[in-house]
Amino acid sequence: MHFIPEKLDTYVVNHSQKEPELLQQLNRETYQKILQPRMLSGAYQGRVLSIISKLINPKNILEIGTYTGYSAICLAEGLQKNGALHTIDINEELEDFQRKYFNLSGYGEQIHQHIGDATTIIPNLNQKFDLVFIDADKPNYPTYFDLIINKMNSGGVILSDNVLWSGKVIEEVDTDDISTKALLKYNTLLAEDPRIETVLLPIRDGLTISRVI
Ligand SMILES: C[S@@+](CC[C@H](N)C(=O)[O-])C[C@H]1O[C@@H](n2cnc3c(N)ncnc32)[C@H](O)[C@@H]1O
Repeated sequence: MHFIPEKLDTYVVNHSQKEPELLQQLNRETYQKILQPRMLSGAYQGRVLSIISKLINPKNILEIGTYTGYSAICLAEGLQKNGALHTIDINEELEDFQRKYFNLSGYGEQIHQHIGDATTIIPNLNQKFDLVFIDADKPNYPTYFDLIINKMNSGGVILSDNVLWSGKVIEEVDTDDISTKALLKYNTLLAEDPRIETVLLPIRDGLTISRVI
């Protein structure tokens, strides 16, 4: 969902960095072969992730929700030469697709895939992170924050995707809508937690930047 008028959105995209050829190919192949291709970050948000990562120049990145690997490659563009990106996805069927593109990207040796439920994998990761991208199941967002906050380096950044949830965060919530309920809780938590400084950006479906103090 775009929160700005289509014409203005086109102008924004046309005046931003272009999507690299390999990511265009990944994008196309995801739409041809994989279920729910709209989950992929896409060209504009991908460039936003890339430039944020380049500004931070992280040694260690954690991504929760790999899908077909699009955002992982965007984030890896900012990695330090000896840095590593750990990315987690519960869907084992995506592993080979991800690996093919990670190797083609030139970051293959720096990207480590973890297959399984992120809530059980994160506690076993022993490094500290400079950049975390949360983009998996929405009901677990508050849990992911609790699991990563003590694994962040000071000055590290947590990016959270889909925090506006197609605008549902300002509508009346259905009693069985656990994703919107969790995001409402999560957005308040990020805004109020004294360990971080947070700005919610209305980019695509909502992207929050939280800097760890
Ligand atoms: C929105 S997609 C990620 C898109 C990807 N970050 C990108 O921008 O290209 C969400 C992914 O989270 C994964 N996922 C859902 N629940 C999960 C869980 N509990 N642990 C790990 N991954 C999970 C799904 O399998 C799916 O591939």
